[in-house]
Parts: sequence; structure tokens; C-alpha cells
Amino acid sequence: METHPGVTERSRPHLEPGDWGPPPPDHEAHLDHAARLARRGPRFDDNPRVGCVLVGADGFVLATGYHRGAGTPHAEADALARARASGLDTRGATAYVTLEPCNHEGRTPSCARALIAARVGLVVFAHYDPNPLAARGGETLRSAGIPATRVAHAESSSLLDEWLVQRAGRPWVTLKIASSLDGRVAAADGTSQWITGARARADAHLRRSRHDAIAVGMGTVLADDPALTARDADGGLLDSQPRPVIFGRRAIPVDARVRQHPLPLLHLPGTHLAADLFTLHRQGVRGLFVEGGAQLATSLLAQGLVDEVLIYAAPVLLGGPRSWLGDARVPTLAAAPRLQFHEILPLGKDVLLRARPAQTSAAWAPTTDAPHKEDPCSPV
Ligand SMILES: NC(=O)c1ccc[n+]([C@@H]2O[C@H](COP(=O)([O-])OP(=O)(O)OC[C@H]3O[C@@H](n4cnc5c(N)ncnc54)[C@H](OP(=O)(O)O)[C@@H]3O)[C@@H](O)[C@H]2O)c1
Repeated sequence: METHPGVTERSRPHLEPGDWGPPPPDHEAHLDHAARLARRGPRFDDNPRVGCVLVGADGFVLATGYHRGAGTPHAEADALARARASGLDTRGATAYVTLEPCNHEGRTPSCARALIAARVGLVVFAHYDPNPLAARGGETLRSAGIPATRVAHAESSSLLDEWLVQRAGRPWVTLKIASSLDGRVAAADGTSQWITGARARADAHLRRSRHDAIAVGMGTVLADDPALTARDADGGLLDSQPRPVIFGRRAIPVDARVRQHPLPLLHLPGTHLAADLFTLHRQGVRGLFVEGGAQLATSLLAQGLVDEVLIYAAPVLLGGPRSWLGDARVPTLAAAPRLQFHEILPLGKDVLLRARPAQTSAAWAPTTDAPHKEDPCSPV
């Protein structure tokens, strides 16, 4: 029997001969890495965010990749191309991918085939591909003699949330509110600017710029005359602007500031919000940032059309009736819709609370009258 240099039989009585060698691979750590890479991809896109880490037989990372949006190379192809560009041998490597490698020759070649051609030794993925057009890449790999296994990884799965919503035909809806600590959005005389401080406002403007569109109700247009642009601290326009959307049947005043927005204004009635969201999706809106007011927020929440709530809470108390939520038709506490905090971020003197619906509640069940989509499959 071979003995490790410097180790006597007496010093390792608890080890069997087969226990020698490198430590077992840390699937979770490599999937964490792949998920971090995936987050660099676009959040609102026709394709999901995916990351890939190629790990050599010696346990060292050979190459990494991620998907930069529909029409660009998939994460696996990106990582394999990087390995090739560095002259690295991928034979026998383990590919860690946040989503099952695709099985579909679309705008890009199938990732399952690319991994087979690269002769990797093992594929570990975190989530089965829910797109029937692209699914079963794991089977293709296994039939080529390459073990492919799913290891559950919550962070990788959560990367798909936005994509799954938009695959159903509507944009991801983020509801943003700036409120006092007691949930009020304006004082008794209607003054509301500014409840939160400069850092909170800068954060909100950055998030505006990362959504495809920004919406308010007609009440807010008439009360506040918002510009609905994404701006820096000096008032300059950020590079990426969200498209302005107004919900309401009344006419938008001719001199409304939103009419000066650099992107075309969309005016939707809001009488059938689900249908309006489908209209926005058809116009290319994948992420919608809704900034109130209370009537619009209440309608969206009551119809299960909000995916994330951002509350910028200021340490001020206003009291009175001007809450950010109207009558949400919650008859009793047991029937109240629950949310889960995803992040709590101090911003100067204020705090940002990010929360998502914990589950579909009977009170706020998602609307079921959405137009039928013939083929909900996204591009691959
Ligand atoms: N602190 C904050 O974060 C914040 C943000 C926004 C607003 N605010 C404050 O909130 C106040 C305005 O809020 P608000 O609640 O009065 O008005 P709102 O929610 O902004 O607008 C209500 C209007 O939106 C239209 N709408 C279209 N579809 C709707 C639907 N499905 N459900 C409800 N409304 C729909 C209707 O206009 P039509 O009648 O024309 O159809 C309705 O009258 C202002 O004082 C503003 O300063 C505060």
C-alpha cells in the first residue's frame, strides 16, 4: 500500500486507503459562483440569466461564462470559448451551470452538444429547464455517456423569477413607494416631496433606469406632475431611460412634464390592468417600475400583479389617511397576503425594504383572465 510522504500508518488510523486524494468537489460553492456570474446578465430579457463555471479535474476553475441576453452566446458556450481562447483542455472538467444546458439549436448551438464536443466529465446544474423547446439537455448528455445531475440550489432558481413572469406574457412589476415610517405617502396638506433623503432618491432613480418602463396613475400625474425620467443627483438624465406609462382614462394635461420625456409616452386606460400589462409586454416591456399612487398600487396588488415591493421608509411620522395602500379587501388577518423580505438596505437616514409575495393568497389571487398565448416559449 502507498503511504503519503511523512504520514505513518499510526498517524491516520481513521482513514481507509480509498479515502486518500483531493477533497470532494464543493458543488454548492461552484453553483454560488455560477449564480453570481449569472447576475451580470440582463435582469429583464427574453432569455433567463444563466452562469457557468468550468472546473478542472484538479479542482481549479478553468473558465467562467454567463449569458448576456437573447441572441448572444449561452453561459456554457461563453465559458467553453474562454477556456479555448486560453488554450485550456476541458476534457474531464466539471461544468456547473445554474440552468440545465439547453437541448435546442436556436440562434446559438445546443449547449448539451457543445459540452459533449468539449468532452467534459460531469455536468452539475441547479434547475431543470422549464422551456419544453430547450429542455432535456441532461438526457442528451447522459445518452452521450456524460453524467449530468441536478443539485438543488435556491439562488440559481431565484434567478429565473423575472424570466418566468415575462414568459407568461406580462412584464415583471416592481411597485416602489416612498413613505413615512407609518406608511403614509403625503401630509394632511398633500405635500409629499421629499419624504426620503438624497441617497434613497438616488437609489430609486438607478432602479428606474434598470427597468424598461415606469408607470404612475393619473392621480399622481395631476397631483405631482412627475417627469418620470431617471436622473442623477444633479438632475442630469441617466444613460438608460425607462419608457413613461400613465394609467387612467382622463386626458394628460398638455403641459404635463411627462410630455417632455425623451421616450414616447404610453397612455393606457387601466380599466383592465392585466390586459394593459400584456399590451406593454407586446411592446417590449419586460420590467415595469410602478411608482404609485395608492389607488393604482391597490388595484395592482389586489389582482396579484405585483412581483416585488420596494418601500423606501423614512424615519418620519405623518399619520392621517394618506396610506400607500387603499382598501385591499382583506377581511381578516388570517386572509392577509404575506410577503417575504428579500433585502433590508440602509440608505442614509432611510431604509429600503425589498419584499416579494410569499405565496399566492386567496385574497390576492393572480388574475386568470389574461389573454391566451399560443406559444409562451421564449427565444433560446
Ligand atoms: N410617496 C410616494 O411614493 C408617492 C408615489 C406616487 C404618488 N404619491 C401621492 O399619491 C397621490 C396620488 O395617488 P392617488 O391614489 O390619488 O392616485 P393614483 O393611484 O396615482 O391615480 C389614480 C388614478 O389612476 C387611474 N387608474 C387607471 N387604472 C386604475 C386602476 N386599475 N386602479 C386605480 N386607478 C387606476 C385612474 O385615473 P382615471 O380616473 O383618469 O381613469 C385613477 O383615478 C398624490 O398625492 C401623490 O403625491 C405618493
